[in-house]
Parts: sequence; C-alpha cells; structure tokens
Amino acid sequence: MSNKQNHAQWSSKVGFIMAAVGSAVGLGNIWKFPYMVGESGGSAFVLAYLLCIALIGFPILVAEWMIGRRGQKNPMDSFSDVAASEGKSRNWAIVGVVGILGAFLILSFYSVIGGWALNYMVKLGSGTFTGLNGEAVEGVFNGMLASPGTLTIWHTIFMGVTALIVALGVTSGIEKASKIMIPMLALLLFVIVGYNIMNGGFAEAVTYLFSPDLSKLTGPDSSTIILSALGHAFFTLSLGMGIMVTYGSYLGKNISLLSMARTVVILDTVIALVAGLAIFPIIFSHGMDPAAGPGLIFVSLPIAFGSMTAGALLGTLFFLLVTFAALTSSISLIEPSIEFLEERTSMSRTTSVIVATIAIWLLGVAALLSFNLWSDVLIFGNNIFDLLDKLTSKFMLPLAGLAAIVFAGWVMSQDSVRQELGLSGGAWTLWQIVAKFIAPIGVIIVFINTLIS
Ligand code: PFF
Repeated sequence: MSNKQNHAQWSSKVGFIMAAVGSAVGLGNIWKFPYMVGESGGSAFVLAYLLCIALIGFPILVAEWMIGRRGQKNPMDSFSDVAASEGKSRNWAIVGVVGILGAFLILSFYSVIGGWALNYMVKLGSGTFTGLNGEAVEGVFNGMLASPGTLTIWHTIFMGVTALIVALGVTSGIEKASKIMIPMLALLLFVIVGYNIMNGGFAEAVTYLFSPDLSKLTGPDSSTIILSALGHAFFTLSLGMGIMVTYGSYLGKNISLLSMARTVVILDTVIALVAGLAIFPIIFSHGMDPAAGPGLIFVSLPIAFGSMTAGALLGTLFFLLVTFAALTSSISLIEPSIEFLEERTSMSRTTSVIVATIAIWLLGVAALLSFNLWSDVLIFGNNIFDLLDKLTSKFMLPLAGLAAIVFAGWVMSQDSVRQELGLSGGAWTLWQIVAKFIAPIGVIIVFINTLIS
C-alpha cells in the first residue's frame, strides 16, 4: 500500500464539526425533509424522525467515526485493519467497499439535483418566475427535466465545483469551504425565517411541524411513516456510505466522539426544522398544498416567490442556500472514493479527483437521461435515477450502517470501545444497550419491512 504523504488531519475541532455538519446538512434537510414531512402528515413524522435520529442515527454516527479514527485509512482498509487488530476477519473490508460505492452512486444523482438548485438560483435571479401562474411555473420545471442539454450543463457545473473544492485537499478544500458555507447557510435560513415571521403563515407552519398527532403513529400509515423516518435519519446524517468513516480517519485521538456527534446531530436536526419554517409559511400563506412531494421547493416555492414583493431576491437567496447545502454534502460524497484512490493506487490527489469526478459525472448523465431520452429504460421496473436512489437508500445505506453498529457493538473488543468513547458507569451501560440491541434491531426491522413492502 502506498503511503505518499502523511494522512491528512482536520486542522481544528470547529473545522471538523463544520465539515461533518456540512456533509449532514444537504438536500436531505432542505429539499427532502420538508416534503417528507408534508407527505407523511406533519408532526407525526417529525416525532418518529427525532426518535430514529436519537436511538439509531446517533450511535451509528459515533460507530463510524470510531472505526475511521482507529483505522486512519479509507473505509475499506479501516474496517479491514480494525477487524484484524481485534483478531477478526479482514472480510469486514467489504462493508467499507459498500460504503465507498454507495457514496459514489449517490453523488451521481445528487449532483443532478444540485444542478437544479444552481439553475433555479439563476432563474430566480433573472426574474423568470415573476408573475407566472402555477401552470407556467410547473411548465418551467418540466421543461428543465425534458431537456438533457440543460440538465447536463448544470450537473457538469455542480460536479466541477465539487471537484475543485476537494482537489484543494481536506483542510484547505473541504474544511475551509464548509467553514464558509455552513455559517452563510445558517444566516440565509434565518433571513428567510425572519421574512416569514413578518409575512404570515408562520403560526400555521409551527403547528404543522410541532403539534404532535400521536394517532398517526399508531394508525394505518404508521409503519410507512416510521420506515421513511428511519431511512431519512440515515440519509440526513450521511451514514452507511463510508463518509463518516472517512471523516473519522482524519480525526485526532483527543477529540470526544460523543460530544462531537451530539453537536452534529443537533445542528443537522435544527437546520432541517428551521428549513421547514423557511418553507411552509410561504406555502401556507399562498394557499398551497404542503404535501406536494418532491416538487415542493422547485414548483410550489417558485410560484410563491413569483408573486411576492422582493420574491426574486428572496428566491435567489433561498436557492443559494440550497446550493451551499448541496455542495458541502457533495464534497463529502466524493471524498471516500478519493481517499481510497489516493491510498490504494499510485495516483496523486489531483488525478484521483479527476478520475472519480469523470466516473461520477458519466453515471450522473445516465441518471439525468431518465427524465427524458431514457425515460423508458427500466431496470427492475425503475428508471436509472430511481434505481440509484432506491439501491443506495433502501439497501446499501441500511446494510452498511447496520454492519458499522454491529462491528462496534459486537465485533470490537468492548474495552477498546469504552476507551475510544471515554465512558463509564451508567452512560456506558446505556451505550451498550443502544449499540448492541436497540440500534441494530431497529435497522433490521426497517430493512425487513423494505424487503417485503
Ligand atoms: N446528508 C446529506 C443530506 O441530508 O442531504 C446527503 C448525503 C450526504 C447523503 C452524504 C449521503 C451522504 F453520504
């Protein structure tokens, strides 16, 4: 194995937190979470999601960082080396491979949506939606999807920016970009929420998001709600794709994983909820449907922006925010592949970035053609875009996440784990109950339900 340079390290705790929050906070928080809340009936989903984050997401995040930090290598070699040092089979490397591959596959379609956000930022800035009615706005969205050329251009720009950032390295690229973009994202979010507080629909949005309707969690849709909440907990925390293993491999020993994980989970959740408060008041005050699905931010919001004072400005800021969120996640999605190529081949970081970018870009083009030229190319009944999404979020992420927590709970010697986490007494017992039983069983239940549904 080549060892071209010292393994990279985050330059500071804050830098690491920003990078990890950057990975976690993405389209999942600002695009997917609000529409999932909308589709799954509001606060019942929020409640299920919070439970999944606390009982399953949090321990798996800690487990992945711990494995990366012990291994100090790419996910494949980290799993392999840590397993070997515990006297266990090196075949655990497979989990790392699934992770690297998962991130690679996700980025291909994630970048396509990142491209939509870029495109919409420009469209709003140039007043495309001003005064348009709902049908016309929908026409703009469908027009974009129907045009392979447009989609390819924006996907290319998005991948290009991602590649440029990661080419600068772990500290000067990923860490620095996250340190700039995450605070700006938070600022933009609060500007939009501030606007909403003054312009109506706010109280309705708060009730919609926060007044728990427990009957939904015991009603007929409960299992769908809980399943999608868990799937989303994985996605939003960037678990099961080697990312957090990779980010952990750049961590020093003296950092408390539990307190870092607490910070990241809280920030990720707060940002998702605040994104809800940025979006739903606008939806409600314009009399639109909160359950509009994936079109919520690309159709419903532009309709609203098109009809409100300063809507073009507010809309541009909104899509700038979405773009920042997407970029700080895309740089994390490409990093496991790059760390792998750098460590496992003789390629330099720059060459690794170029190779990974081209491969992901190509797959992304195949994914974006699903919306137009290749819309009837179906594999197991899904177009390429949906196939990539389902394969990763329904199968690869849960399985790799499950493997990570089983590894931490059952495979690693519990003395090493206790040392890594610096736990004792009741807190240690609680960790063991969660890591050995609650989290793995939770994932298994969801996975089985996915298989039979
Ligand atoms: N966590 C990001 C989000 O919520 O949008 C998306 C993501 C990033 C998913 C990185 C997976 C990943 F590995």
